[in-house]
Amino acid sequence: MLSEKMNEALNAQANRELYSSYLYLSMSYYFESTGMTGFASWMRVQAGEELVHTMKMLDYVANSGGRAKMMAVEAPQLSWASPMQAFQHVWNHERMVTGLIHALVRVAESESDEGTKRFLQWYLEEQVEEEESSDRVLKIVQAAGSESSALKAADKELGQRRFKFPSGFEIFPYSAIPTTIGSLKK
Ligand code: FEO
Repeated sequence: MLSEKMNEALNAQANRELYSSYLYLSMSYYFESTGMTGFASWMRVQAGEELVHTMKMLDYVANSGGRAKMMAVEAPQLSWASPMQAFQHVWNHERMVTGLIHALVRVAESESDEGTKRFLQWYLEEQVEEEESSDRVLKIVQAAGSESSALKAADKELGQRRFKFPSGFEIFPYSAIPTTIGSLKK
């Protein structure tokens, strides 16, 4: 059973994960509007991953005796001065999220909640990957600079990215969620 404080902290982080999805979707449609469909596709996959992060966390809350609550999602930025600026934004954003996950682990520690601490290990590992990947793509886009043919090549390369559910987790259908708690919660 989650403490009230842990429940709220997890719901707040799920909201930040959903905001991340919204932010990357905003970047995706920004790139789509500029004709850079490879970058748009990369961001779309990233938005999908963030939706998985959101629902995985909310499912954990729901299956741990807590209550998953939806809150207002902040409106993201709509456009960027250049591809490099957008990918720099991704880089900064992922480092900020890593800090949020560490703060969440500290809440679990202060609540003596070993189960949640173990659950958050997946997010810590995921953040290592997210930081590596944002670092890699930023370097590719930085190397392309503003040179049109180099940017087109980078756009093509990043467009190869494909979405994959993390092992053991799918968000559809709902029945994939273990119903160990059973009854409906208010
Ligand atoms: Fe879910 Fe990219 O942090």
